[in-house]
Amino acid sequence: MSPCFLLAVGVILLAAYIFRHVVVKGQMCTSSAQLHGKTAIVTGESRPSTAAGTNLSVSLVPPAGSNTGIGKMTAVDLAKRGARVILACRSRERGEAALQDVRRESGSSRVVFMQLDLASLKSVRSFAENFLKAESRLDLLINNAGVYMSGRTEDGLGLMFGVNHIGHFLLTNLLLDRLKQCGPSRVVNVSSMAHNFGKINFDCLNTHKALRFGTSFFEVLQGYSDSKLCNILFTHELAKRLQGTKVTCYSLHPGVINSDLGRNTSPVFQWVAMPLIAFFFKNTVQGAQSTLHCAVQEGLEPLSGRYFSNCTVKKLYPKAKDDAAAKKLWELSERLCGLA
Ligand SMILES: NC(=O)c1ccc[n+]([C@@H]2O[C@H](COP(=O)([O-])OP(=O)(O)OC[C@H]3O[C@@H](n4cnc5c(N)ncnc54)[C@H](OP(=O)(O)O)[C@@H]3O)[C@@H](O)[C@H]2O)c1
Ligand SMILES: *[C@@H]1O[C@H](CO)[C@@H](O)[C@H](O)[C@H]1NC(C)=O
Ligand SMILES: *[C@@H]1O[C@H](CO)[C@@H](O)[C@H](O)[C@H]1NC(C)=O
Ligand SMILES: *[C@@H]1O[C@H](CO)[C@@H](O)[C@H](O)[C@H]1NC(C)=O
Repeated sequence: MSPCFLLAVGVILLAAYIFRHVVVKGQMCTSSAQLHGKTAIVTGESRPSTAAGTNLSVSLVPPAGSNTGIGKMTAVDLAKRGARVILACRSRERGEAALQDVRRESGSSRVVFMQLDLASLKSVRSFAENFLKAESRLDLLINNAGVYMSGRTEDGLGLMFGVNHIGHFLLTNLLLDRLKQCGPSRVVNVSSMAHNFGKINFDCLNTHKALRFGTSFFEVLQGYSDSKLCNILFTHELAKRLQGTKVTCYSLHPGVINSDLGRNTSPVFQWVAMPLIAFFFKNTVQGAQSTLHCAVQEGLEPLSGRYFSNCTVKKLYPKAKDDAAAKKLWELSERLCGLA
Protein backbone atom coordinates (compact mmCIF):
# COMPACT_ATOMS: atom_id res chain seq x y z
CA MET A 1 0.00 0.00 0.00
CA SER A 2 1.41 3.34 -0.94
CA PRO A 3 2.14 5.87 1.77
CA CYS A 4 -0.13 8.32 -0.05
CA PHE A 5 -3.07 5.96 0.29
CA LEU A 6 -2.43 5.47 4.01
CA LEU A 7 -2.06 9.20 4.46
CA ALA A 8 -5.38 9.82 2.69
CA VAL A 9 -7.14 7.25 4.87
CA GLY A 10 -5.60 8.80 7.96
CA VAL A 11 -6.75 12.27 6.98
CA ILE A 12 -10.29 11.07 6.28
CA LEU A 13 -10.51 9.25 9.61
CA LEU A 14 -9.19 12.27 11.46
CA ALA A 15 -11.67 14.55 9.69
CA ALA A 16 -14.53 12.17 10.52
CA TYR A 17 -13.43 12.02 14.15
CA ILE A 18 -13.27 15.79 14.43
CA PHE A 19 -16.63 16.15 12.66
CA ARG A 20 -18.31 13.70 15.05
CA HIS A 21 -16.73 15.05 18.22
CA VAL A 22 -16.94 18.76 17.51
CA VAL A 23 -19.70 19.57 15.04
CA VAL A 24 -22.21 16.77 15.70
CA LYS A 25 -21.55 16.48 19.43
CA GLY A 26 -21.92 20.23 19.86
CA GLN A 27 -21.30 22.28 22.91
CA MET A 28 -21.72 20.63 26.31
CA CYS A 29 -23.25 22.31 29.33
CA THR A 30 -20.23 23.45 31.30
CA SER A 31 -21.95 24.64 34.45
CA SER A 32 -21.06 22.75 37.60
CA ALA A 33 -24.05 24.21 39.47
CA GLN A 34 -25.28 22.02 42.31
CA LEU A 35 -28.99 21.66 43.01
CA HIS A 36 -29.14 20.38 46.59
CA GLY A 37 -32.44 21.39 48.17
CA LYS A 38 -34.03 22.14 44.79
CA THR A 39 -36.89 20.32 43.11
CA ALA A 40 -37.29 19.73 39.37
CA ILE A 41 -40.08 18.28 37.24
CA VAL A 42 -39.12 16.71 33.90
CA THR A 43 -41.96 15.60 31.61
CA GLY A 44 -41.55 12.61 29.28
CA GLU A 45 -38.65 10.39 30.22
CA SER A 46 -40.19 6.99 29.76
CA ARG A 47 -39.60 5.05 26.58
CA PRO A 48 -42.34 3.46 24.52
CA SER A 49 -42.10 -0.26 25.14
CA THR A 50 -40.47 -2.05 22.23
CA ALA A 51 -43.17 -2.39 19.62
CA ALA A 52 -44.59 -5.78 18.87
CA GLY A 53 -42.93 -7.30 15.85
CA THR A 54 -39.47 -5.92 16.52
CA ASN A 55 -37.03 -8.75 16.70
CA LEU A 56 -34.69 -7.81 19.48
CA SER A 57 -32.06 -10.32 18.56
CA VAL A 58 -31.44 -8.52 15.28
CA SER A 59 -32.11 -5.05 16.59
CA LEU A 60 -29.24 -2.59 16.81
CA VAL A 61 -31.49 -0.35 18.78
CA PRO A 62 -31.37 -0.63 22.55
CA PRO A 63 -34.54 -2.10 24.05
CA ALA A 64 -36.92 0.01 26.11
CA GLY A 65 -35.51 0.90 29.49
CA SER A 66 -32.01 1.70 28.33
CA ASN A 67 -30.47 5.09 27.76
CA THR A 68 -32.82 6.50 25.19
CA GLY A 69 -34.83 9.71 25.24
CA ILE A 70 -33.38 13.06 26.21
CA GLY A 71 -35.84 13.50 29.07
CA LYS A 72 -34.28 10.63 30.95
CA MET A 73 -30.75 11.90 30.40
CA THR A 74 -31.84 15.33 31.62
CA ALA A 75 -33.35 13.78 34.75
CA VAL A 76 -30.18 11.77 35.45
CA ASP A 77 -28.00 14.87 35.22
CA LEU A 78 -30.26 16.97 37.48
CA ALA A 79 -30.38 14.15 40.04
CA LYS A 80 -26.57 13.88 40.00
CA ARG A 81 -26.42 17.58 40.83
CA GLY A 82 -28.46 16.88 43.94
CA ALA A 83 -31.94 17.94 42.84
CA ARG A 84 -35.07 16.12 43.90
CA VAL A 85 -36.45 15.05 40.51
CA ILE A 86 -40.07 14.27 39.66
CA LEU A 87 -40.45 12.07 36.59
CA ALA A 88 -43.78 12.91 34.97
CA CYS A 89 -44.75 10.16 32.52
CA ARG A 90 -48.08 8.96 31.22
CA SER A 91 -47.62 5.23 31.73
CA ARG A 92 -47.16 3.96 35.26
CA GLU A 93 -45.36 0.85 34.07
CA ARG A 94 -42.88 2.68 31.84
CA GLY A 95 -42.56 5.47 34.39
CA GLU A 96 -41.57 3.00 37.12
CA ALA A 97 -39.01 1.48 34.75
CA ALA A 98 -37.60 4.94 34.00
CA LEU A 99 -37.51 5.61 37.75
CA GLN A 100 -35.31 2.56 38.36
CA ASP A 101 -32.99 3.62 35.52
CA VAL A 102 -32.67 7.21 36.69
CA ARG A 103 -32.01 6.14 40.28
CA ARG A 104 -29.37 3.64 39.17
CA GLU A 105 -27.64 5.92 36.67
CA SER A 106 -27.60 8.97 38.93
CA GLY A 107 -26.86 7.12 42.16
CA SER A 108 -29.57 9.25 43.79
CA SER A 109 -32.65 7.99 45.56
CA ARG A 110 -34.26 11.43 45.54
CA VAL A 111 -36.16 10.66 42.34
CA VAL A 112 -39.90 9.99 42.27
CA PHE A 113 -42.47 9.10 39.66
CA MET A 114 -45.81 10.89 39.31
CA GLN A 115 -48.32 10.00 36.64
CA LEU A 116 -49.07 12.69 34.02
CA ASP A 117 -50.82 12.30 30.69
CA LEU A 118 -50.45 15.54 28.76
CA ALA A 119 -53.15 14.40 26.35
CA SER A 120 -55.73 14.78 29.12
CA LEU A 121 -56.54 18.10 30.78
CA LYS A 122 -58.02 16.17 33.69
CA SER A 123 -54.76 14.31 34.17
CA VAL A 124 -52.76 17.55 34.03
CA ARG A 125 -54.99 19.05 36.71
CA SER A 126 -54.76 16.05 38.98
CA PHE A 127 -50.98 15.86 38.51
CA ALA A 128 -50.66 19.52 39.52
CA GLU A 129 -52.94 19.00 42.51
CA ASN A 130 -51.01 15.94 43.70
CA PHE A 131 -47.68 17.64 43.14
CA LEU A 132 -48.66 20.81 45.02
CA LYS A 133 -49.91 18.72 47.94
CA ALA A 134 -46.94 16.37 48.10
CA GLU A 135 -44.03 18.70 47.38
CA SER A 136 -43.12 21.99 48.98
CA ARG A 137 -40.84 23.44 46.29
CA LEU A 138 -40.55 23.82 42.54
CA ASP A 139 -37.36 25.30 41.14
CA LEU A 140 -37.21 23.86 37.63
CA LEU A 141 -39.99 22.83 35.28
CA ILE A 142 -38.67 21.06 32.17
CA ASN A 143 -41.39 20.71 29.51
CA ASN A 144 -39.72 17.98 27.49
CA ALA A 145 -42.42 15.50 26.46
CA GLY A 146 -43.48 15.62 22.84
CA VAL A 147 -45.32 13.54 20.28
CA TYR A 148 -44.98 13.24 16.56
CA MET A 149 -48.14 11.61 15.25
CA SER A 150 -51.65 12.45 14.19
CA GLY A 151 -54.70 11.89 16.36
CA ARG A 152 -56.85 13.56 19.01
CA THR A 153 -56.47 14.01 22.74
CA GLU A 154 -59.04 12.92 25.31
CA ASP A 155 -60.47 16.45 25.13
CA GLY A 156 -60.79 16.41 21.36
CA LEU A 157 -57.77 18.61 20.64
CA GLY A 158 -55.36 17.84 17.83
CA LEU A 159 -52.83 15.45 19.41
CA MET A 160 -49.61 17.34 18.71
CA PHE A 161 -51.19 20.70 19.55
CA GLY A 162 -52.75 19.18 22.66
CA VAL A 163 -49.68 17.40 24.04
CA ASN A 164 -46.80 19.56 22.83
CA HIS A 165 -48.55 22.83 23.56
CA ILE A 166 -51.84 22.86 25.50
CA GLY A 167 -50.92 20.18 28.07
CA HIS A 168 -47.70 22.01 28.93
CA PHE A 169 -49.51 25.36 28.83
CA LEU A 170 -51.96 24.24 31.50
CA LEU A 171 -49.24 22.51 33.53
CA THR A 172 -47.03 25.60 33.52
CA ASN A 173 -49.91 27.86 34.51
CA LEU A 174 -51.06 25.62 37.35
CA LEU A 175 -47.53 25.49 38.78
CA LEU A 176 -46.66 29.14 38.26
CA ASP A 177 -47.47 30.33 41.79
CA ARG A 178 -45.21 27.68 43.29
CA LEU A 179 -42.44 28.64 40.87
CA LYS A 180 -42.86 32.27 41.87
CA GLN A 181 -42.67 31.44 45.58
CA CYS A 182 -39.41 29.53 45.01
CA GLY A 183 -37.68 32.08 42.74
CA PRO A 184 -35.17 32.32 41.25
CA SER A 185 -36.77 29.47 39.31
CA ARG A 186 -36.91 28.50 35.65
CA VAL A 187 -39.21 26.99 33.05
CA VAL A 188 -37.52 25.30 30.09
CA ASN A 189 -39.40 24.32 26.93
CA VAL A 190 -37.95 21.75 24.59
CA SER A 191 -39.02 22.99 21.18
CA SER A 192 -37.41 22.19 17.84
CA MET A 193 -35.73 23.73 14.86
CA ALA A 194 -38.78 22.43 13.01
CA HIS A 195 -40.64 25.50 14.31
CA ASN A 196 -39.02 27.36 11.41
CA PHE A 197 -41.54 25.67 9.11
CA GLY A 198 -44.46 26.26 11.48
CA LYS A 199 -47.53 28.41 10.89
CA ILE A 200 -50.41 29.10 13.22
CA ASN A 201 -53.78 28.85 11.60
CA PHE A 202 -56.09 30.55 14.10
CA ASP A 203 -59.19 29.84 12.04
CA CYS A 204 -58.50 26.13 12.12
CA LEU A 205 -57.73 26.31 15.86
CA ASN A 206 -60.94 28.17 16.58
CA THR A 207 -63.17 25.80 14.68
CA HIS A 208 -61.40 22.46 15.08
CA LYS A 209 -59.14 22.79 18.15
CA ALA A 210 -56.28 21.58 15.99
CA LEU A 211 -53.52 23.29 14.06
CA ARG A 212 -54.32 21.25 10.96
CA PHE A 213 -55.77 18.01 9.68
CA GLY A 214 -54.47 15.21 7.64
CA THR A 215 -52.42 12.14 8.27
CA SER A 216 -50.09 12.30 5.30
CA PHE A 217 -46.35 12.51 5.91
CA PHE A 218 -46.30 16.24 5.14
CA GLU A 219 -49.39 17.09 7.15
CA VAL A 220 -47.96 15.41 10.23
CA LEU A 221 -44.60 17.11 9.77
CA GLN A 222 -46.34 20.46 9.33
CA GLY A 223 -48.53 19.91 12.41
CA TYR A 224 -45.45 19.05 14.49
CA SER A 225 -43.65 22.18 13.29
CA ASP A 226 -46.72 24.28 14.09
CA SER A 227 -46.91 22.88 17.63
CA LYS A 228 -43.22 23.61 18.17
CA LEU A 229 -43.76 27.20 16.98
CA CYS A 230 -46.45 27.44 19.70
CA ASN A 231 -43.80 26.51 22.31
CA ILE A 232 -41.60 29.38 21.20
CA LEU A 233 -44.38 31.96 21.01
CA PHE A 234 -45.39 30.92 24.49
CA THR A 235 -41.94 31.34 25.90
CA HIS A 236 -42.01 34.80 24.36
CA GLU A 237 -45.36 35.73 25.94
CA LEU A 238 -44.61 34.02 29.25
CA ALA A 239 -41.34 35.92 29.66
CA LYS A 240 -43.29 39.16 29.33
CA ARG A 241 -45.89 38.08 31.83
CA LEU A 242 -43.17 37.04 34.26
CA GLN A 243 -41.35 40.34 34.23
CA GLY A 244 -40.86 41.52 37.78
CA THR A 245 -41.01 37.98 39.18
CA LYS A 246 -38.05 35.72 39.84
CA VAL A 247 -39.22 33.14 37.29
CA THR A 248 -37.45 33.05 33.93
CA CYS A 249 -38.16 30.88 30.91
CA TYR A 250 -36.30 29.56 27.87
CA SER A 251 -37.04 27.52 24.76
CA LEU A 252 -34.57 25.45 22.79
CA HIS A 253 -33.76 23.09 19.96
CA PRO A 254 -32.00 20.03 21.39
CA GLY A 255 -30.29 19.01 18.14
CA VAL A 256 -31.03 16.12 15.86
CA ILE A 257 -30.98 13.15 18.17
CA ASN A 258 -30.73 9.43 17.81
CA SER A 259 -33.51 8.67 20.33
CA ASP A 260 -34.69 5.35 19.07
CA LEU A 261 -35.78 6.30 15.65
CA GLY A 262 -35.05 2.94 14.09
CA ARG A 263 -37.11 1.05 16.63
CA ASN A 264 -39.74 -0.23 14.26
CA THR A 265 -37.75 -0.49 11.07
CA SER A 266 -36.57 -3.51 9.16
CA PRO A 267 -33.23 -5.17 9.96
CA VAL A 268 -31.93 -4.05 6.55
CA PHE A 269 -32.72 -0.45 7.35
CA GLN A 270 -31.10 -0.84 10.74
CA TRP A 271 -27.84 -2.28 9.41
CA VAL A 272 -27.56 0.32 6.66
CA ALA A 273 -28.99 3.46 8.19
CA MET A 274 -28.37 3.09 11.91
CA PRO A 275 -24.57 3.44 11.70
CA LEU A 276 -25.06 6.62 9.67
CA ILE A 277 -27.60 7.90 12.17
CA ALA A 278 -25.24 7.07 15.03
CA PHE A 279 -22.54 9.07 13.25
CA PHE A 280 -24.51 12.12 12.15
CA PHE A 281 -26.98 12.45 15.04
CA LYS A 282 -26.34 13.38 18.64
CA ASN A 283 -26.71 10.69 21.26
CA THR A 284 -29.16 11.38 24.07
CA VAL A 285 -26.55 12.66 26.53
CA GLN A 286 -25.43 15.17 23.92
CA GLY A 287 -29.08 15.90 23.11
CA ALA A 288 -29.79 16.87 26.73
CA GLN A 289 -27.07 19.54 26.90
CA SER A 290 -29.02 22.58 25.72
CA THR A 291 -31.85 21.71 28.11
CA LEU A 292 -29.35 21.47 30.97
CA HIS A 293 -27.70 24.69 29.93
CA CYS A 294 -31.06 26.52 30.10
CA ALA A 295 -31.87 24.83 33.42
CA VAL A 296 -28.66 25.34 35.37
CA GLN A 297 -26.22 27.74 33.70
CA GLU A 298 -25.58 30.64 36.06
CA GLY A 299 -26.41 34.17 34.93
CA LEU A 300 -28.87 33.29 32.17
CA GLU A 301 -31.70 35.38 33.67
CA PRO A 302 -31.28 38.42 31.38
CA LEU A 303 -31.96 36.08 28.43
CA SER A 304 -35.44 35.07 29.67
CA GLY A 305 -37.84 34.37 26.79
CA ARG A 306 -35.04 33.60 24.33
CA TYR A 307 -34.40 30.52 22.19
CA PHE A 308 -31.28 28.34 22.47
CA SER A 309 -29.53 25.73 20.40
CA ASN A 310 -26.08 24.15 20.91
CA CYS A 311 -26.00 25.82 24.38
CA THR A 312 -26.05 29.23 22.70
CA VAL A 313 -28.78 31.82 22.39
CA LYS A 314 -30.00 31.98 18.77
CA LYS A 315 -31.89 34.52 16.71
CA LEU A 316 -35.49 33.80 15.78
CA TYR A 317 -37.39 34.71 12.65
CA PRO A 318 -40.00 37.44 13.18
CA LYS A 319 -42.88 34.93 13.13
CA ALA A 320 -41.47 33.25 16.26
CA LYS A 321 -41.41 36.50 18.25
CA ASP A 322 -44.61 38.01 16.91
CA ASP A 323 -46.14 39.77 19.94
CA ALA A 324 -49.68 39.81 18.58
CA ALA A 325 -49.70 36.12 17.61
CA ALA A 326 -48.17 35.14 20.97
CA LYS A 327 -50.85 37.06 22.86
CA LYS A 328 -53.67 35.68 20.71
CA LEU A 329 -52.40 32.14 21.14
CA TRP A 330 -52.14 32.63 24.90
CA GLU A 331 -55.74 33.81 25.15
CA LEU A 332 -57.04 31.03 22.92
CA SER A 333 -55.08 28.47 24.96
CA GLU A 334 -56.59 29.79 28.18
CA ARG A 335 -60.05 29.26 26.73
CA LEU A 336 -59.23 25.79 25.43
CA CYS A 337 -58.05 24.52 28.78
CA GLY A 338 -60.65 26.30 30.84
CA LEU A 339 -58.35 28.79 32.55
CA ALA A 340 -60.15 31.87 31.28
N1 LIG B 1 -35.19 13.59 18.66
C1 LIG B 1 -34.96 14.70 18.01
O1 LIG B 1 -34.16 14.74 17.06
C2 LIG B 1 -35.64 15.99 18.41
C3 LIG B 1 -35.41 17.13 17.67
C4 LIG B 1 -36.03 18.33 18.04
C5 LIG B 1 -36.87 18.34 19.15
N2 LIG B 1 -37.11 17.22 19.86
C6 LIG B 1 -37.99 17.31 21.02
O2 LIG B 1 -37.34 16.81 22.17
C7 LIG B 1 -38.31 16.31 23.09
C8 LIG B 1 -37.90 14.93 23.55
O3 LIG B 1 -37.79 14.11 22.43
P1 LIG B 1 -37.05 12.71 22.38
O4 LIG B 1 -36.24 12.72 21.16
O5 LIG B 1 -36.42 12.39 23.68
O6 LIG B 1 -38.32 11.82 22.05
P2 LIG B 1 -38.99 10.62 22.83
O7 LIG B 1 -37.90 9.75 23.30
O8 LIG B 1 -40.06 10.12 21.96
O9 LIG B 1 -39.59 11.34 24.10
C9 LIG B 1 -40.86 11.88 24.16
C10 LIG B 1 -41.42 11.62 25.53
O10 LIG B 1 -42.69 12.25 25.61
C11 LIG B 1 -43.57 11.39 26.27
N3 LIG B 1 -44.97 11.63 25.95
C12 LIG B 1 -45.58 11.50 24.76
N4 LIG B 1 -46.90 11.74 24.89
C13 LIG B 1 -47.12 12.04 26.18
C14 LIG B 1 -48.27 12.35 26.93
N5 LIG B 1 -49.47 12.41 26.37
N6 LIG B 1 -48.14 12.59 28.24
C15 LIG B 1 -46.94 12.51 28.83
N7 LIG B 1 -45.81 12.20 28.19
C16 LIG B 1 -45.90 11.96 26.87
C17 LIG B 1 -43.16 10.01 25.81
O11 LIG B 1 -43.65 9.08 26.74
P3 LIG B 1 -44.09 7.56 26.35
O12 LIG B 1 -42.93 6.72 26.71
O13 LIG B 1 -45.25 7.31 27.22
O14 LIG B 1 -44.43 7.55 24.88
C18 LIG B 1 -41.64 10.13 25.83
O15 LIG B 1 -41.14 9.85 27.11
C19 LIG B 1 -39.64 16.36 22.37
O16 LIG B 1 -40.35 17.51 22.79
C20 LIG B 1 -39.25 16.50 20.92
O17 LIG B 1 -40.24 17.17 20.19
C21 LIG B 1 -36.50 16.03 19.52
C1 LIG C 1 -21.74 23.84 18.31
O1 LIG C 1 -20.79 24.64 18.94
C2 LIG C 1 -19.46 24.16 18.80
C3 LIG C 1 -18.55 24.98 19.70
O2 LIG C 1 -18.86 26.34 19.65
C4 LIG C 1 -19.06 24.23 17.34
O3 LIG C 1 -17.74 23.80 17.14
C5 LIG C 1 -20.01 23.34 16.55
O4 LIG C 1 -19.74 23.41 15.17
C6 LIG C 1 -21.48 23.73 16.81
N1 LIG C 1 -22.33 22.73 16.21
C7 LIG C 1 -23.39 23.06 15.51
C8 LIG C 1 -24.18 21.95 14.93
O5 LIG C 1 -23.72 24.22 15.33
C1 LIG D 1 -35.60 -13.29 15.58
O1 LIG D 1 -34.33 -13.45 14.98
C2 LIG D 1 -33.69 -14.68 15.32
C3 LIG D 1 -32.28 -14.64 14.76
O2 LIG D 1 -32.25 -14.15 13.44
C4 LIG D 1 -34.55 -15.81 14.80
O3 LIG D 1 -33.94 -17.05 15.16
C5 LIG D 1 -35.92 -15.76 15.42
O4 LIG D 1 -36.75 -16.73 14.90
C6 LIG D 1 -36.54 -14.37 15.17
N1 LIG D 1 -37.78 -14.25 15.89
C7 LIG D 1 -38.88 -13.74 15.37
C8 LIG D 1 -40.08 -13.64 16.25
O5 LIG D 1 -38.91 -13.33 14.21
C1 LIG E 1 -43.78 26.26 27.21
O1 LIG E 1 -44.69 25.95 26.24
C2 LIG E 1 -46.00 25.86 26.73
C3 LIG E 1 -46.84 25.38 25.61
O2 LIG E 1 -46.50 25.98 24.40
C4 LIG E 1 -46.41 27.19 27.28
O3 LIG E 1 -47.69 27.11 27.82
C5 LIG E 1 -45.47 27.59 28.36
O4 LIG E 1 -45.78 28.86 28.81
C6 LIG E 1 -44.08 27.61 27.81
N1 LIG E 1 -43.14 27.91 28.81
C7 LIG E 1 -41.99 28.42 28.50
C8 LIG E 1 -41.06 28.71 29.58
O5 LIG E 1 -41.69 28.65 27.36
